[in-house]
Amino acid sequence: MKKLFIVSFLILVIIGCNNAPKEINLEKAIDKTWWKEGILYQIYPQSFKDTNGDGFGDFKGVTEGLDYLESLGISMVWMNPFFQSPLVDNGYDVSDYKEIHPRYGNMEDFDAMLAGMHERGIKFVLDVVVNHSSNEHEWFKQSRSSRDNPYREYYHWWPAENGEPPYRHSLFDPEGAWEYDALTDAYYLHTFAEEQPDLNWENPKVRQEVYDIMRFWADKGVDGFRMDAFQFASKDTTFPEWPEGHEKDFIKWYGMRPQLHDYLKEMYDEVISQYDVFAVSEGAGSTFQDAHDLVDSDRNELQMAYHFETVDMSRTPDGYTLDEFREVFSRWDKAFAEEGWIAIFLSNHDNSRLVSRFGNDNPEFRTVSTQMLNTFLLSMRGTPYTYYGDELGMTNIDMPTIEEYVDIDAIGKYKSAVAAGDDLDEFMNELNYSSRENGRTPMQWNDSENAGFTNGTPWKRVNENYTIINVEAQEKDQNSVLNHFRRMAKLRNENNVLVYGEYQLLLEEHPDIYAYTRELGDEKWLVLLNFSESNSNIELPELDGIDTAKINNYDDVLLDGNSMEMLPYQAIIFSLK
Ligand code: GLC
Ligand code: CA
Repeated sequence: MKKLFIVSFLILVIIGCNNAPKEINLEKAIDKTWWKEGILYQIYPQSFKDTNGDGFGDFKGVTEGLDYLESLGISMVWMNPFFQSPLVDNGYDVSDYKEIHPRYGNMEDFDAMLAGMHERGIKFVLDVVVNHSSNEHEWFKQSRSSRDNPYREYYHWWPAENGEPPYRHSLFDPEGAWEYDALTDAYYLHTFAEEQPDLNWENPKVRQEVYDIMRFWADKGVDGFRMDAFQFASKDTTFPEWPEGHEKDFIKWYGMRPQLHDYLKEMYDEVISQYDVFAVSEGAGSTFQDAHDLVDSDRNELQMAYHFETVDMSRTPDGYTLDEFREVFSRWDKAFAEEGWIAIFLSNHDNSRLVSRFGNDNPEFRTVSTQMLNTFLLSMRGTPYTYYGDELGMTNIDMPTIEEYVDIDAIGKYKSAVAAGDDLDEFMNELNYSSRENGRTPMQWNDSENAGFTNGTPWKRVNENYTIINVEAQEKDQNSVLNHFRRMAKLRNENNVLVYGEYQLLLEEHPDIYAYTRELGDEKWLVLLNFSESNSNIELPELDGIDTAKINNYDDVLLDGNSMEMLPYQAIIFSLK
């Protein structure tokens, strides 16, 4: 007993030492670059603006929207895939990486769009989907045609004479990640849908093909690359049998093998270092070490990563707690205080809508709670990624029955729920709330038919609240979500304290209020965010003698000495010195 006590005491001392505040090496932390300082705006191209009435958004639509994008104060656009594709996963299944799917226009339209962005100082980030290709890519057609085809080794094949391959979970296919192909009596691997076979990154020819594709687009002038599902590019290709239940931690088992870093270093030498571009990975491994190994500047691999811890927080309609939200962001900030750089995001094309998920989309609180979340996004350290429509507070759409879903992910999950005998009412309730289709509805431009998105029939139903939530209406209202977004973006763009400033959490245990400071040189700013729909009080010595707010989503500041009453979803930033 005594021994145990001494041991635990020693452990506590050791942990305590590790937690001692560390001097931050500011010079290293502030390695200034445009991709750290800018705000990124993500466009789901089929949903942004349609100019030819076919119901799909297109490049010309984005070009028409460039003045709008510029007015937001954003300086980078990441566009989801628009390459030639059978569109099984809305373009994340590429059949030709150098060709454009005709529904978006042609290469000339792309060039015009890119030139228009560059004229306005907006950089372009390409979605690079190279963990897998489409099964209709010429490489795969060749690969499956015979066992001795030169492209055979472009993919992962398991000859049937070796027996059935060990079970491997697929993210989209309820039947698992191996697909039997009778043509050569072998199974091929697909981490996602069966139409998305995984490329074999161990094959140097595959890697050279990828760098060639990246150079093709960099030569055209794109400024960044978003590496889709990249953690899975490197895997244990002996495909061993793994313990039951391993798939719950699938990144650890299915990806992030040490060779990934060799590939990334090679990609850095061959492509990234040759242009003024950056690369960001989707996913950041399963430990901080993994994440640092991907993005630390002295490693010459990637420049940025985004992790899933926030969007993986409760996806059920019960929602998340401020405690977990604050904890996740504070922990990640601390881990990247000195070295490495991450993206800050709360929504994208794989998630439901920002305000419906993290705020409050009831009409009474929709505006203020979206403004509060945008204040958060744009006042944290890390590059903010904002998703089209979230600058307006676009909400989830109500889709209670499975028939209306077109997304392979939703349909796959539904099939699994049926097979497992789950309660389908409960399943649909959760899907309706958390499905990524919520985040893919057409952009709401005005209150005319189809929200001004298209003159034809939109590929996806427009959210019926477009008559209230739309760009045109919000332009006219100084207090709209849109105009607040612009003010907040301007504040960040003009004040590096919001980009590089050291983050310090205050009021760690407050039930409703997320409070932190950002400090850089002789500037120190205080950010106060009320995450609840009630008034809430705080006391902070910092508030004494404070002057006017830098930004506030209400007219009032209910300050009394060092205490303040915050209104529902109020978001205020003060300068402290
Ligand atoms: C990534 C994309 C997602 C896609 C998947 C397969 O997670 O963000 O939309 O379905 O990869 O490419
Ligand atoms: Ca179109």
